[in-house]
Amino acid sequence: MKLILVGPPGSGKGTQADMISRHYKIPHISTGDILRENIKNETALGKLAKEYVESGRLVPDELIIRLMRKRLKAPDCRNGFLLDGFPRTVDQAKELEKLEKIDMVFSLEVSDDEVVRRISRRLICRKCGASYHLDFKPPKKEGICDKCGGELYQRDDDKEEVVKKRLEVYREQTEPLLRFYDEKHILHRINGEQPIEKVFKDIQEIIEV
Ligand code: AP5
Repeated sequence: MKLILVGPPGSGKGTQADMISRHYKIPHISTGDILRENIKNETALGKLAKEYVESGRLVPDELIIRLMRKRLKAPDCRNGFLLDGFPRTVDQAKELEKLEKIDMVFSLEVSDDEVVRRISRRLICRKCGASYHLDFKPPKKEGICDKCGGELYQRDDDKEEVVKKRLEVYREQTEPLLRFYDEKHILHRINGEQPIEKVFKDIQEIIEV
């Protein structure tokens, strides 16, 4: 099963990807997580990507495509995968088409106001990347990740002005992807403004039809 999750920043891609990946036992591949890991470790890719990620712009297509070409060849992708945050442009989607046949694309639909509300209260684990929300998904122990005990922090690109830029970039460069996949009849629009479990249930119902 080869799946894609598309949606504006803070729409719940990472949250749902984590649940889908555990439930269906397929790897969760997040280009955002891979880029942040590279930035933290100051790799060559991280140095190239840093300025883009921190200002809310997209990392150039050729860098992302090179990264994903390699990642999708890994043995854990043999029985499927879930892509979170890739593709993000029509050009990335066309390149992906040359590598893999995608079964379903889920678009998590959330308003701009909700995005801001969610991101401003989001915390991320420094160690494993798990995502929390102070009101909707609080950690059991303040400041500590439930899964690995790592420290929780606020992402650099979650500052208000950067969030605005990310939203603008999403509407301009990523939203055209929805039409691309709709024309292929594999796009499913999901109301992302429901409780986390309900969003998951809606996705599950489509997968299991
Ligand atoms: P990336 O890491 O992909 O960020 P994003 O798309 O902006 O998405 P987020 O991670 O902010 O949000 P999410 O949708 O995963 O929401 P979450 O589940 O955390 O990319 C970062 C940057 O990397 C980009 O800006 C770009 O520079 C670069 N990049 C990445 N991929 C690229 C590519 N392919 N090409 C070029 N550049 C690329 O949820 C948010 C919050 O809401 C959490 O607190 C969560 O607990 C809460 N929440 C989730 N669901 C619900 C719900 N249903 N109700 C209430 N709260 C909820």
